[in-house]
Amino acid sequence: MSVVRGIPSSSATSKQSPGPADVAVIGGGVIGLTVAWRLAVAGRSVCVVDPTPGRGAAWVAAGMLAPVSEAHFGEEALIALTVAGAERWSVFAAELEEAAGTSIGYRRCGTLVVAADSGDLAVVEELLKLQHTLGLTAERLTGGECRQLEPALTPGVRGGIHAPKDHQVDNRLLMGALLTACIRGGVSFVADEGAEIVLTADGARVVGTRLTGGGILAAGTVVVAAGCRSSLLAGVPEGVIPPIRPVKGQVLRLGGSATAPLLGRTVRGIAHGDACYLVPRLDGTVVLGATVEERGYDTTVQAGAVYELLRAARSLVPGITELTLLETRAGLRPGSPDNAPFVGPAGPDGLVLATGHYRNGILLAPITADAVTGWLGHGAVPEAMSRFTPGRTDATPVL
Ligand code: GLY
Repeated sequence: MSVVRGIPSSSATSKQSPGPADVAVIGGGVIGLTVAWRLAVAGRSVCVVDPTPGRGAAWVAAGMLAPVSEAHFGEEALIALTVAGAERWSVFAAELEEAAGTSIGYRRCGTLVVAADSGDLAVVEELLKLQHTLGLTAERLTGGECRQLEPALTPGVRGGIHAPKDHQVDNRLLMGALLTACIRGGVSFVADEGAEIVLTADGARVVGTRLTGGGILAAGTVVVAAGCRSSLLAGVPEGVIPPIRPVKGQVLRLGGSATAPLLGRTVRGIAHGDACYLVPRLDGTVVLGATVEERGYDTTVQAGAVYELLRAARSLVPGITELTLLETRAGLRPGSPDNAPFVGPAGPDGLVLATGHYRNGILLAPITADAVTGWLGHGAVPEAMSRFTPGRTDATPVL
């Protein structure tokens, strides 16, 4: 099978009305594809509904698997979930590479969090306190120690944190491998959008999904994995699908040398109050992100955002401006009211949600798929996911 920039070109997607499936998965992003592949491995017939499977937010993302350096105050339960999610990644990566026959660029490289000035260092030290309170592995480093690990850092770097267990995966290789594994595993695809959940006349159970282009895909189970579009699905009683909104992230891809890479590990930084991250790939590419913007479904790239990301990155890693600007792109994260996902059965029988992963879609894809297969009776539901069911009552907005 040929692969174009990580995505297999295949005749496996179809515009025609598909036959019935045990499970219809609405959304072919990282969550939908991972769920589909795992359900197929568990013996289910699965059909993924997506006009452009393998794209979406995870295509734009950086692929950080970083629960320690991305920990946030007030999100202790979510942090426990992300730590549990990260623990699954090593085995998951090996299984996926085996199934797809390709590398996904999973790198156990660790992450460095650095500060440009004394105000930034105060923020970093508060983060370290939170990490240690939660028993996470994180070590305080001086500026000099940071530069020993990453010589490309500015000599002025004030200090930082080393999180040796925060890793990364090449998101585009990942998406290509998931598509290949799905196709090899017998998952079918329909190149359309799920418009509506179709229920029995009494509304008690799911019978399929109506497609935007016409026709119904019959399925006894429908998994909603439509990312920031999940709440747009019609047909279910109000409140069954929680409010999921698009949160824009603008990201740059910069080209560098594979033989003399600028960085050896992920560097997250705060530069005079502005946060950024730099994620180095083995081929020398550096992914630089990201903005966090409430702008609805807007995916335009703005010069000001590119400037601000480059300015913050250059304050920390001056050599960044020597790299080639390969790509600027914006993605839409599926934001939930409390930044945490909703995973599990919801409303009518046969409806399952796997959405709202916000900034953690790639990190949480394996544990989400385990949870969905567990809910559907093919395994155990991971304990860490049990607090994130759709019916939870504590999903109050983060202020
Ligand atoms: N997890 C990285 C981001 O959302 O930008």
